[in-house]
Amino acid sequence: MRRLHEHLIEDRRDEVAILRIEREEALGALSRSLVESIGSYFEALRDDPAVRVLLLTGTGKGFIAGADIGEYHAVSSDEFDSYQRLSRRVFSTLESLPQITIAAVNGYALGGGFEVALCCDLVVAAERARFGLPEIKLGLLPGGGGTQRLARAAGIRFATEAVLTGRFIDADELRASGVVSRVHPAGELMDRAIELAEEIAGRPPMAVAEAKHVLRTGLEGGLEDGLTIEQQALSRLFGTADAAEGINAFLNKREPRFVGR
Ligand code: CAA
Repeated sequence: MRRLHEHLIEDRRDEVAILRIEREEALGALSRSLVESIGSYFEALRDDPAVRVLLLTGTGKGFIAGADIGEYHAVSSDEFDSYQRLSRRVFSTLESLPQITIAAVNGYALGGGFEVALCCDLVVAAERARFGLPEIKLGLLPGGGGTQRLARAAGIRFATEAVLTGRFIDADELRASGVVSRVHPAGELMDRAIELAEEIAGRPPMAVAEAKHVLRTGLEGGLEDGLTIEQQALSRLFGTADAAEGINAFLNKREPRFVGR
């Protein structure tokens, strides 16, 4: 267990890193210094081949209740702009990490907290989790990609309603709209999330990386472009030792031993 900030700890289980925000008294609200520490962690993780899956979670009933509103009233507009640029950079770094990223949403994921979850490859949630983009109630807008990433993940109408009303959305509703992939009782969330992370970490590394690349970039263009990206990735994989091992193990009815090349 490593403490990275007063409110941030990292734990490792083999190839799975668990990053936990520990600020239960403010429901995981992101102060500027906390965002900076999270950003430094992502920068280091990007070049760490020992980690295959990152699990992000919070503490108690707070995943991340958004930006630290307490810091807002004391800042100038220049400082506010600089905080927005920092958040954008950190969220984009999370989104582009080579590892598979899973948000294990234990409670409130509001504003910047929902936006962090939207940057992850997978979102699993506790039954009690509440998501939302409530910035409109502060006279603001989501500034960490919420309008753009929610519209891409759940559709423009779903996002429009969420942004304009700022309402809280429960985990089951987000599961129905495809943003959350699994919902668990709060007491089981971390065990189930770790199982999922370990399952993915056990899959052949190059195939996982290519699958992430295809799923992410394939949707940016039209269907034909996406199909080409998929086919090219599959061709690259076919020549790998892991593909040979996977096929051979299947034919010989044994467990495969993947080596990552
Ligand atoms: N910033 C700072 N402190 C926060 C916080 C936040 N975003 N969210 C909660 N807290 C603090 C509360 O002030 C409270 O502290 P005290 O005990 O010292 O009073 C503590 O966390 C517990 O919160 P509540 O007493 O309010 O708990 P509750 O169960 O009654 O309500 C809640 C929970 C509905 C999540 C409510 O806390 C809430 O609405 N929080 C604000 C959420 C929000 O608006 N987030 C968006 C921020 S803006 C943003 O993220 C993007 C941007 O840059 C534009």
